[in-house]
Amino acid sequence: MRHFVADHQLTQSQLLSFIDLAKTVKAEPEKFSSVLAGKTIAMLFEKPSLRTMVSFEVGIKKLGGHAINLGQQNGKLGERERTKDYAKNLSCFVDGIVARVFEHEAILELADEGSVPVVNALCDWYHPCQGLADFVTLSEYYPDLSKVRLAYVGDSNNVSNSLMTLAATLGMDFTLICPEGHEPAPHIVEQTEFLYQEVNAGNGKGKLTISHDLTYLNRQEGQQDVIYTDTWISMGGELDTQSNAYKTLMAKFAPYQVNHKLMQRSGATKVMHCQPAHLEQEITTELFDDANKSIVFQQAENRLWAQCAVLVSIFSPKLALFNQ
Ligand code: NVA
Repeated sequence: MRHFVADHQLTQSQLLSFIDLAKTVKAEPEKFSSVLAGKTIAMLFEKPSLRTMVSFEVGIKKLGGHAINLGQQNGKLGERERTKDYAKNLSCFVDGIVARVFEHEAILELADEGSVPVVNALCDWYHPCQGLADFVTLSEYYPDLSKVRLAYVGDSNNVSNSLMTLAATLGMDFTLICPEGHEPAPHIVEQTEFLYQEVNAGNGKGKLTISHDLTYLNRQEGQQDVIYTDTWISMGGELDTQSNAYKTLMAKFAPYQVNHKLMQRSGATKVMHCQPAHLEQEITTELFDDANKSIVFQQAENRLWAQCAVLVSIFSPKLALFNQ
């Protein structure tokens, strides 16, 4: 049984092969049009979705399969019925499950208790399909990914955890700049350091830098190629916009806004965002819309091809790239 639950499942060579596979599917999707022939994939969402929902449904169809989108109708897993019963019931009918959940444990429980492959479509710890799509996108601009200097500016969250993990797997420099109190969880940092050590044992490249200090991004100190940002408040953590808690949070994050000035200061030439963007909060409208610097829609398009590659890898034994 192959599940895709988190980015750290992939070794460096599996990740590089995975990126190649996604690009091959993108170039010639018709060659993969029967990978899911006769198969049905159920998609369930505990949280809202636009890109993930549509790109999975379109991808499943392109691979010759049938998608059942359960949407958010069942609410939070475990409330209407136990998560394990949910997994066992779905396993009676479908060949795979794509799930967006609140807690990573729910993904693991679906995988452990069901009898069909499970794909993580975002949880509290990771957004692995986004991470893979982003590395496919980066590879389209930077052929040698290990040389890319990627900085993430903003709130440490599921997206930054996935990016950090994949950067470490490839031995790529990764800098995370966040306000105090918004650092990545210790176990994610530990796991990332471990991955860097493994990669560095081979070629001595790449490091993780975590700081609150934006001046670290100044050109002369830590010049960057790409700056990535995401929402300051992830789904599930919403605050009343009239509340003091919300106003305090906005004020704390305001200096960390990604804008043309920061791009200039850091030397970065590309900006990335997983979307949805909160314009004039984590990123300015002007930068988000700047077609020379912003590659956000390339990222969005590559969600489709990266996820097709995940499904090909799970359902086509000859192209299996990861085990779990
Ligand atoms: N960090 C964001 C990602 C949205 C695609 C969230 O979890 O809401």
